[in-house]
Amino acid sequence: MKTITVEKPDSSPGAILCVVGARPNFMKIAPIIRAFRSDPDPIHTRLVHTGQHYDAEMNDAFFTQLQIPQPDIELEVGSASHAVQTAEIMRRFEPVVDAESPSAVLVVGDVNSTIACALVAAKKNIPVIHVEAGLRSFDRAMPEEINRVLTDQISTLLFTTEPAARENLLREGVDDRQIHFVGNVMIDTLKHCLEQSVPAAKTLAGIPGRKPFLDGDSGYCVLTLHRPSNVDEPRLFRHILETVRIVSESIPVVFPLHPRTRNRVAELGLQEMLESDRIACLQPLAYLEMLGLVSAARLVITDSGGLQEETTVVGVPCVTLRNNTERPVTVVQGTNTIAGQDRAQILAVVNDVLNNGGKSGRVPELWDGKAAGRIKRKLNDWLQHQTPLVATG
Ligand code: UD1
Repeated sequence: MKTITVEKPDSSPGAILCVVGARPNFMKIAPIIRAFRSDPDPIHTRLVHTGQHYDAEMNDAFFTQLQIPQPDIELEVGSASHAVQTAEIMRRFEPVVDAESPSAVLVVGDVNSTIACALVAAKKNIPVIHVEAGLRSFDRAMPEEINRVLTDQISTLLFTTEPAARENLLREGVDDRQIHFVGNVMIDTLKHCLEQSVPAAKTLAGIPGRKPFLDGDSGYCVLTLHRPSNVDEPRLFRHILETVRIVSESIPVVFPLHPRTRNRVAELGLQEMLESDRIACLQPLAYLEMLGLVSAARLVITDSGGLQEETTVVGVPCVTLRNNTERPVTVVQGTNTIAGQDRAQILAVVNDVLNNGGKSGRVPELWDGKAAGRIKRKLNDWLQHQTPLVATG
């Protein structure tokens, strides 16, 4: 059994333990740590990395590019089944909480690290702060939906990104005074990094046989897939890849593969479906490469939560290969279309993009790059006037 040693923090107890674990967490924590550790009124923080994602492309590149400080504590859990991964994070996080006596534990998003660390803290009567609270797909088959619902139930302060989140939380019995609409920290990172993003031409120039991607008027489509609901069921995954091949006849497709997806392609023997000079399979891209690629794309096809938001802000049409979204503002106000796995609907969006430019939208309220500053102000206020359960409004 691995022993976790935790150095006692230099100053008195009461830091806020900020937790990250998986790729989508890194973009969210970067502006929070930057804001919390800056003047005026810095908030004492310690950064905990659970190690849920560990590959260089899934992890290290993000810390470097987003200038996230080295974690103070690393739990190194790695991959496992949901139960084992969640349990192992809890087992390794508990001694950290005991040693640190934090004034609160801050978690972001909806990954297994989020619920695991929230649960450890709540059981020790340590307040939990959830950033990106209240999002609901209403699809309990998604592991992330379970993580969202449960994390919100045991959180003290809930910071939301869009108006629907408050409604969802109120319906689930959360006290209105605990909910704070602050905007979207993911978009803080996007705005902070847009100027430094790597030009798409540079990323595309690395593709062997890159002609279709650099020449021609059609531009290119970015594809990402990693949800178990899309890639784990062989027939469905094959159906999606067949659709991608049809799309690629109209517009070349750039496909950075998540490790889960890469593994599924190999296990199911689907490599030949991706062998085309109009489909470029890449390693997972680092943030600045992905941002440059997405912001210059003509179209994005994805099952990611974050990309639905990012495309809305950079004004690129997005087709979401899911039957629902926990981010409805990206559909109602943004550039997102929910298509499920329906081939006709996906091709209709592709045609609309190629013929008419596709769906345009507007940037949702408070997605302005300043969400982390709002969280910091609320938190400083709360730390000063803290009551056992309910935050000051
Ligand atoms: C997790 C999150 C999901 C998020 C996604 C983004 C949960 C429940 N899911 O899903 O919400 O959208 O991250 O990436 O927390 N793997 C590697 N190297 C890595 C990480 C993963 O090879 O650095 C492989 C492993 O084989 C692993 C598989 O990918 O079994 C899945 O990783 P895991 O963290 O379990 O979930 P994701 O599918 O990445």
